[in-house]
Amino acid sequence: MHDIKVIIRTTEMQEYSERMRSVGKTIAFVPTMGFLHEGHLPLIKEGRKLGDNLVVSIFVNPSQFSPEEDFESYPRNFDNDLKLLQKEGVDVIFYPDKNDLYQDGFQTYVELENLPKHLCGISRPIFFQGVATVVTKLFNIVKPHIAIFGRKDYQQLVIIRRMARDLNFDIKIVGFPTVREPDGLAMSSRNTYLTPEQRINALSLYKSLKQSKKLVESGIKDAKRIIDAAYTLIKSHPETVIDYIAICDPETLADMETIDRPALMALAVNVGKTRLIDNMILKP
Ligand code: PAF
Repeated sequence: MHDIKVIIRTTEMQEYSERMRSVGKTIAFVPTMGFLHEGHLPLIKEGRKLGDNLVVSIFVNPSQFSPEEDFESYPRNFDNDLKLLQKEGVDVIFYPDKNDLYQDGFQTYVELENLPKHLCGISRPIFFQGVATVVTKLFNIVKPHIAIFGRKDYQQLVIIRRMARDLNFDIKIVGFPTVREPDGLAMSSRNTYLTPEQRINALSLYKSLKQSKKLVESGIKDAKRIIDAAYTLIKSHPETVIDYIAICDPETLADMETIDRPALMALAVNVGKTRLIDNMILKP
C-alpha cells in the first residue's frame, strides 16, 4: 500500500513543502472538505498526473458557513477518506485543526469586490469571503505549483482564478469538469442528505440544464424565456425550492439578456433541506 503522510500542523506542512520545492519537486494540490466521493477522484487523479507530489487537504472550513448553515452536521468520515486517498497514491493529507488554522485573535479576511455579488453570493453573503480566505491560507501553507478545483462550483473557481491573478499567487489554477452520476446528477457530498424520493426530484437541476441547452441550440436567444422554462420544469418536481436560476457572462457573472455568445447557466435549488447547485455553458 502507498505510503501516505497525514500532516496536522500548519508549520509541519510548510516545512514539508519547502523541502520538496528545494529539491525541485512540483506540488499539485486538491483542497477539499473531505467526505470524498467518486466526484473527487478525477480531480485527485489529475493532480497525480500534474505534480511530483500530490497534497490533498481535508478541512471543513467554518468561515464559509453562516450560523444557520450545516457546518456542524456537514458529513465527515476521515477513515474512509484516508483509505481512498491512499489507494489514489496521494503523498500527503493536510488535515489541520480549526484552532491551528484560525488562531486566537484571527481577524484577516480576503474579499473580492464584485464576483461574490452574483449567484450563490446573494443568498450566502459570507460564503466566498470564507472560501477566498481559507484558500489563500491553504496556498500559503501548502505552497503548491498547481491547484485543482471542480467546475461544479463554477463561481468558486472564477473567484479563485481572479484572486490568484489579483494577488499574484504563482500558482496555476486548473478547473476540472463536473463529475455526474450515470443519470446526470452532479456528484456532491451533500447528495447523501437526500431521501430516495428527493434524489429523483434532484435530477430536475440537470434536466433543466439539458432542456436549456436544447432550446439554445434550436435558436432561442432570449435568456428570460429559457430561465422561465427551467423554473417550470423544476417547480413541477415536489420538494424543490429554487434559490436562483441565472444566465450570465462566464467571466464576470453579470446577467445576460441575449445568448449571442457562450453563456453560463447556473442554478441553486433546495431539495427538501439540501441545497444543490449545478451549471452548464450554453453555446448559441
Ligand atoms: O469546494 C470546497 O470543497 C471548498 O469550498 C474549499 C475550496 C475546499 C474551501 O473550503
